[in-house]
Amino acid sequence: MDECILPVMNTGLRGVDVASSKICDVRGKERKLIYRGFLIEDLAQNVSFEEVCFLLLYERLPKKQELENFQQSLKQKRQIPENIFSFLKILPSDMNPMDVLQMATPLLIQNDQTIGEPGIENILFSAENLIAGIATITAAWERIRNKKQVISPDNDLSHAENFLYMLNGKKPDAETAHFFDTSLVLHAEHSFNASTFTARQVASTRAHIYSAIAAAIGSLSGALHGGANVKVMKMLKEIGSVDRIDAYINDLLNSGGLIMGLGHAVYQTDDPRAIILAPMSKKMGQIANQPLWYDLSRELEKKGKTAFKAKKHKEIFSNVDFYSASLFYAMGITTDLFSPLFAISRVSGWAAHVIEEQYAMAAPKPSLYRPGAEYVGDYCGPDECVFTEMDDR
Ligand SMILES: CC(C)(COP(=O)(O)OP(=O)(O)OC[C@H]1O[C@@H](n2cnc3c(N)ncnc32)[C@H](O)[C@@H]1OP(=O)(O)O)[C@@H](O)C(=O)NCCC(=O)NCCS
Repeated sequence: MDECILPVMNTGLRGVDVASSKICDVRGKERKLIYRGFLIEDLAQNVSFEEVCFLLLYERLPKKQELENFQQSLKQKRQIPENIFSFLKILPSDMNPMDVLQMATPLLIQNDQTIGEPGIENILFSAENLIAGIATITAAWERIRNKKQVISPDNDLSHAENFLYMLNGKKPDAETAHFFDTSLVLHAEHSFNASTFTARQVASTRAHIYSAIAAAIGSLSGALHGGANVKVMKMLKEIGSVDRIDAYINDLLNSGGLIMGLGHAVYQTDDPRAIILAPMSKKMGQIANQPLWYDLSRELEKKGKTAFKAKKHKEIFSNVDFYSASLFYAMGITTDLFSPLFAISRVSGWAAHVIEEQYAMAAPKPSLYRPGAEYVGDYCGPDECVFTEMDDR
């Protein structure tokens, strides 16, 4: 620690601003999520995931021709090198898809001739290569681990439609594709959350964007972050019926467990994304003739909030993972793919942050993130540390 910097203890950096950013504003008290000046509610209702990617990367919404060019550019990058499929085929089929995604993502470098070369146009190429490639890897892994043939991308389809097509081998119906596209819009960006901070921290070392994104995928895989949607579904299955909710919550809270999908480090109100996802989950459950998962979620949310308040004397609210779990499940998506779905979307936000970290000169940020830590280890005398010889240990 530099002598001139006074240490401030703030466990987990809560409430500490570590840089400036123009990408996203999360107003936790006001229930507002804003991507580059646009409210999430407006974006979810009016624009596609591709438009959001353009907005995050190019700092404004695209004009018609710009969007067409951008869509074309993403489509050109959907086809990933054959040796990535060969790599996936040699992996044990029970490997967690997030681990697979984290390992395979840097292999996309092969499509990138200018990796690491300075120039905003080069890193934008990489960002698009990652957005397109991560979706292909995820779909391919689902097919390969189930001993099915990999499906080539269909360039007549949007990003959301094409992902579902590569996953299932059939084109999705319009409503499923629309809900999936909206869920990609909702998951795209969320300021300095754990995985984005990971990406920025890696980028601050001047490591390249593939390295930063692979690290962010690792961060996202954790149960307290993007892994929560998988745990929400596990919890819903364990509960199984509405009449078992009370007992389940009681046992969970009494044993110090967490109701997954509730609580957030920033929001002190319901997460605006959960509010948009809830009716989508309900509708998708009806379409799939599986209303149980939404019904269970709704009751669990109500009862969980009440029980938490009684126990902790404070409010708790649903987060993005709460209703995305039942939504994705009703779409027929395998539960352990829920976190990769998060990554397929969030890669756009991570990439925008890596670009801001490495290229935006105006925004105040450290040249390298390097926080301190309060040392609470063994005391070393004021004068000198004494080494313990082998015979004295
Ligand atoms: C997301 C999360 C880490 C945010 O944490 P936070 O606001 O910093 O709150 P803390 O972790 O400091 O928790 C404060 C207290 O509430 C409890 N709490 C927080 N979320 C809880 C939950 N979902 N269920 C039960 N108790 C919870 C904590 O155990 C802690 O109790 P304590 O004071 O007795 O130690 C936390 O709410 C959580 O673990 N949620 C479940 C996982 C999840 O859904 N993650 C996805 C986030 S988008």
